[in-house]
Amino acid sequence: MLALIRGLTRSRQLAVLLITHDMGVVKQTADEIAVMYRGEIIERAPVEEFFRNPRHDYSRRLIAALPDLTHFHDSCAAEPLLQLDDVKVHFPIRKGVLQRVVDYTKAVDGVSLTIGRGETYALVGESGSGKSTLGRAILNLEPVAGGQITFLGQPINTLSRRAMLPYRKKIQVVFQNPNSSMNPRLTVAQIISEGMDSLGMGLSAAQRDARIAALLQRVQLGSEFSQRHPHELSGGQLQRIAIARALAVEPELIICDEPTSALDVSIRAEVLELLQELQREFGVSYLFITHDLSIVPGLAHRVGVMRSGKLVEQGSAEQILTRPQHPYTQALLSSVPRDVPGIDHA
Ligand SMILES: Nc1ncnc2c1ncn2[C@@H]1O[C@H](COP(=O)(O)OP(=O)(O)OP(=O)(O)O)[C@@H](O)[C@H]1O
Ligand SMILES: [Mg+2]
Repeated sequence: MLALIRGLTRSRQLAVLLITHDMGVVKQTADEIAVMYRGEIIERAPVEEFFRNPRHDYSRRLIAALPDLTHFHDSCAAEPLLQLDDVKVHFPIRKGVLQRVVDYTKAVDGVSLTIGRGETYALVGESGSGKSTLGRAILNLEPVAGGQITFLGQPINTLSRRAMLPYRKKIQVVFQNPNSSMNPRLTVAQIISEGMDSLGMGLSAAQRDARIAALLQRVQLGSEFSQRHPHELSGGQLQRIAIARALAVEPELIICDEPTSALDVSIRAEVLELLQELQREFGVSYLFITHDLSIVPGLAHRVGVMRSGKLVEQGSAEQILTRPQHPYTQALLSSVPRDVPGIDHA
């Protein structure tokens, strides 16, 4: 998309107003930058000058929030928590007046991977490659057409709804758009306690309130947030609530499906930091689904690359980001903006 925009700007002498959170994209595409903060343009400069000498404090924070592609996590040699063996999810394609099934979309087409306790596994790949479908299959929200999903040594994809319940509590999810994953009529306190109630944590009202207050504090929001509704919160605050809701039932695995892609870079960095703190504190594992390879180094122990329903490559974050083997991974990496201060793409 960026190459297309650049090409059109040149060939047609177009002027482009590009609105973005992504400082890598700015660096790669724009001639001039204006930084908006609380409704005002606080800084305007040619792009090179801006990166060399940002004037405003917020601009400096935007630049500092850019990830560093040179520091990687050590590997995490832990016992396996989740294991996928040759997992397949197929969606029927229907045609004609009778809506007969003529073929299947092989959204997930034989994926095998393991996630250890306390490990973060980043799942990357282009749009439509099957990442979210795989996440939904692990949550038992999509029927599995083949293969096996094992959690804590127990095959879970064949369990009945009822037998699944104890595992349902241990696997939680945080979605990209917290707005559409929360009931707008509920208060924050009700949203956080929803899972605790429906998954039967068996807490008294007082215990539940204390737990909500502790969770809010843990995601760095004051207890005054408990009586607010989703529309009264910013995107970053909503995502913190979504994380508190997931944590409420003491999960062992949290599936994060693009949890930060709707957030601006400085808020994104804060949410990623929070997720990592929680991992250090509670030993929770993450399956972290993202398009954004640049956040992977500081976050993930291992990376899997999906394409057309298949896992085409997996390995340590360092291995995949610095020595990608598969041509598709190489292509994916080359789309990460380079030459950004603070990022050394040696
Ligand atoms: N409920 C559904 N019915 C039919 N096809 C579906 C359904 N859900 C997903 N698909 C198809 O499955 C494929 C994988 O979709 P999926 O949402 O898993 O991709 P993704 O990797 O998460 O993409 P993105 O990065 O854009 O979120 C796509 O071709 C999609 O059109
Ligand atoms: Mg998706």
